Amino acid sequence: MTTTATPGTPTGRAAADFIADRIQAVPPSGIRRFFDIAATMDDVISLGIGEPDFVTPAPITQAGIDSLRHGETHYTSNSGILELRQLLAGQLERLYSVSYNPETELLITVGVSEALLLALMAILNPGDEVIVPEPCFVAYQPTVIFGGGVPVAVPTRVEDSFQVTVADLERARTPRTKAVLLGYPNNPTGAVLDRARLEEIARWAAQHDLLVISDEIYDRLVYGVPHTCFASLPGAWDRTLLLGGFSKSYAMTGWRIGYVAAPPDLLAAMRKIHQYIIMSAPTTAQEAAIEALKSGEPYVEEMRAEYDRRRRTIVAGFNSLGLTCFEPRGAFYAFPSVAVTGLTDAEFSERLLMEEHVAMVPGSAFGESGRGFVRASYATALPKIEQALERIGHLVERCRQG
Ligand SMILES: Cc1ncc(COP(=O)(O)O)c(C=O)c1O
Repeated sequence: MTTTATPGTPTGRAAADFIADRIQAVPPSGIRRFFDIAATMDDVISLGIGEPDFVTPAPITQAGIDSLRHGETHYTSNSGILELRQLLAGQLERLYSVSYNPETELLITVGVSEALLLALMAILNPGDEVIVPEPCFVAYQPTVIFGGGVPVAVPTRVEDSFQVTVADLERARTPRTKAVLLGYPNNPTGAVLDRARLEEIARWAAQHDLLVISDEIYDRLVYGVPHTCFASLPGAWDRTLLLGGFSKSYAMTGWRIGYVAAPPDLLAAMRKIHQYIIMSAPTTAQEAAIEALKSGEPYVEEMRAEYDRRRRTIVAGFNSLGLTCFEPRGAFYAFPSVAVTGLTDAEFSERLLMEEHVAMVPGSAFGESGRGFVRASYATALPKIEQALERIGHLVERCRQG
């Protein structure tokens, strides 16, 4: 006789019991709670969000609209529109002297978010370990888990300019280690790994036969320092999965478009997953991305210059309030310490939101080594940043007076 157990009934499993262990093991994002509270309040200045405040430059948007008007409403090739891959290959060659064959070594994805999951699913057997330097983008460790792997967090420190050291990577390495996941310019610290450190990491990865997943989504947003593409380092191309995208540099977060560049066998494995779960990245967004690569350069520079102005203001502002701030050289985040207030990062963020209506994210949301710091996004207009600094000053003053 067959028994039929109905979910939610006394004889069946509770709905939550159907959820896979590895999915249940991942806590909800620490960032969300702050936004949910902020959304209920008037007059909040948000330094919380990790996306450009600029709208997508007009010619890029127009290209998307035109493609729809021309009836381009169908799937594209699984790998993405060939012209887009060709333009991307050209840009990577021009900027970083790295060569990727657009036919076999580039795949257009639904943002770096998808590219990251594909990279991890393609390489991980259950239980394989991925070393993840933190503080880092909130999705890294959960995505390793979704991909069936085990994230192994490695701290970075403000004394090292938040650049991971090879000694720390080596301490975290085990026989199960398969890859290291780097993100630079970094979210949330704004740290940019310099060439010398990257070369050391590349040598270490080669010595231990590890892959490097390199998330370089903020590559165009650097201030006074160069960005070094990991794949361009001696001996690194064969073991690099390079992730990049349009969200940040071209202010295109909502279009959902990114890419992965990798040696052909690895790329084919990722394309196989993409082909079955996504089919192809949104056609309209791909057409817009083509325009971004053709005519977007002046806009990238204009936005970068504006971020740089804001960066100087916010870093100087934090330092003058006694919230010691490491100088971020990339992305659009500042990561000051709140030690002077005597509060934890979570307490500081909570009080700042409730008492001064300014939203910033506690550093511990990005990993243990972010504890004691807060992330302030300067993808916010300069007058708002100045007003936010004034409000932050009021809270710091109250804390100092005890
Ligand atoms: C470091 C980093 N990687 C990836 C992403 C996700 O980018 P995308 O919009 O391309 O999915 C973000 C978004 O905040 C990010 O900060």
